[in-house]
Amino acid sequence: MKKSVFREDFYWGGATASNQCEGAWKQDGKGESCADHFTVGKVDSPRRFTKEIEEGSIYPSHFAVNHYNQYEEDIKLFAEMGFKMYRLSINWTRIFPNGDDQKPNQKGLDHYRSVLELCRKYGIEPLVTMSHYEFPYHLTKKWNGWEDRRTIDCFVTYTKTIMEEYKDLVTYWLTFNEINTPLMGGGVTMSLGMMPKEEKLFFGKGDKITPNDANLIVNGMHHQFIASAKTVIEGRKINPNFKFGCMIASNVVYPYTCKPEDVMKAWEVQQRTNYYCGDVMVRGEYAPFTKSYLKDLQATIHTLPEDDAILKEGVVDYYAFSYYMSGCGTADKEILEKNKSIFSTAKNPYLKASEWGWQIDPEGLRYYLNETYNRYKVPLMVVENGLGANDKLENDTVHDSYRIDYLRQHIQAMAKAVEDGVDILAYTMWGCIDIVSASTGEMKKRYGFIYVDMDDRGKGTLKRYKKDSFYWFKKVIQSNGEDL
Ligand code: BG6
Repeated sequence: MKKSVFREDFYWGGATASNQCEGAWKQDGKGESCADHFTVGKVDSPRRFTKEIEEGSIYPSHFAVNHYNQYEEDIKLFAEMGFKMYRLSINWTRIFPNGDDQKPNQKGLDHYRSVLELCRKYGIEPLVTMSHYEFPYHLTKKWNGWEDRRTIDCFVTYTKTIMEEYKDLVTYWLTFNEINTPLMGGGVTMSLGMMPKEEKLFFGKGDKITPNDANLIVNGMHHQFIASAKTVIEGRKINPNFKFGCMIASNVVYPYTCKPEDVMKAWEVQQRTNYYCGDVMVRGEYAPFTKSYLKDLQATIHTLPEDDAILKEGVVDYYAFSYYMSGCGTADKEILEKNKSIFSTAKNPYLKASEWGWQIDPEGLRYYLNETYNRYKVPLMVVENGLGANDKLENDTVHDSYRIDYLRQHIQAMAKAVEDGVDILAYTMWGCIDIVSASTGEMKKRYGFIYVDMDDRGKGTLKRYKKDSFYWFKKVIQSNGEDL
């Protein structure tokens, strides 16, 4: 067999988030998070956020796929595939149910200890996301989430607690999942823990950001940047071997045409969505273009004199990102309105899309890996990538050749980037076991190598089945990405 282009110690694996897989939303003293207040939706009917839990409405995070109680079975299956890494999130509300409690919840700490120990037993390196849309709802009501600077201290108390607790079990940490989504028309409640003014969907199909929203968003995100940097600073005191990463939702944007205005638009969107956060977290400072961006948004970031030094000191070691699709930048408002993609860009007429309208573009992954590595020169991790599809279970399996095709093409694109000289540490496929979709709340939008018998209404046996892609990915890992 040809020698692999990937590093010998490359981490192949999968990723999940607690609120999308664990269920057990009240078990063992867990508090409520914002994610627990989102109802199920569909591709054409948004999830609703309800301030109170309504009787008769369906909240997928309450049940999900019961990973909280079935993690032993699930991690065993990951080990059977040969996973080298499992990206999971620790749910803040299992450790501090209200976010501002005096003491951590011992049962929550014990649970994640068992999960992490099991990963170690199988030789799987855990990659832990500290905040993946699991913001304590109590702090939403009390302080409107990240709008309030006091949230920083609550978060750092939480992150110090888990870093102390798991300092011998975890090396790789991610502070915030997809920290940039609020700049892409979504995530104000899920990511920033802010109370929506109206029932609003999570990914907002690129709603225009109003100056009022913009001030909340850029200041909320600034508080998250400080909280992330402080976590990094504190973490290095706890264990100097810890490695921290940012996690950005990549936004690959091509010009819709070669008109200079379109080229500039594509450039501008990428600056404002990808580099806005990347620069702060990797370089420790806001990029120069932030000035004109804030002017356009009519927003001001309120900083304290010590913030600059904190951001500089608390920079991350590696850059992690999710990659699903690309879009196009256009200066033509009519084209944009008619063809809007989920991330506020125009759809690309040359690309096919998934059933949920996410346009499939493996080349975009190579492009993003190169662009990002050239800018930051720190190792990269692809911590989310995959295809959401409506799988059919037949004779206890799923023939998901479409998923294998998708993943193969993206891994090939990643291999080309390695040959271009990009240093990539890991590839953790999103939703390695079927979980609840974040954008629609459906179970029907499945990503996994493992099928779970559970439907959108929370009905099913919860039995796990291996799909064709399960055996395929096992070969990919065994051959270090050569046998595709
Ligand atoms: C990313 C999120 O945006 O995309 C995940 O980090 C999410 O939480 C994933 O699940 C896929 O999106 P969806 O909506 O298909 O679940």
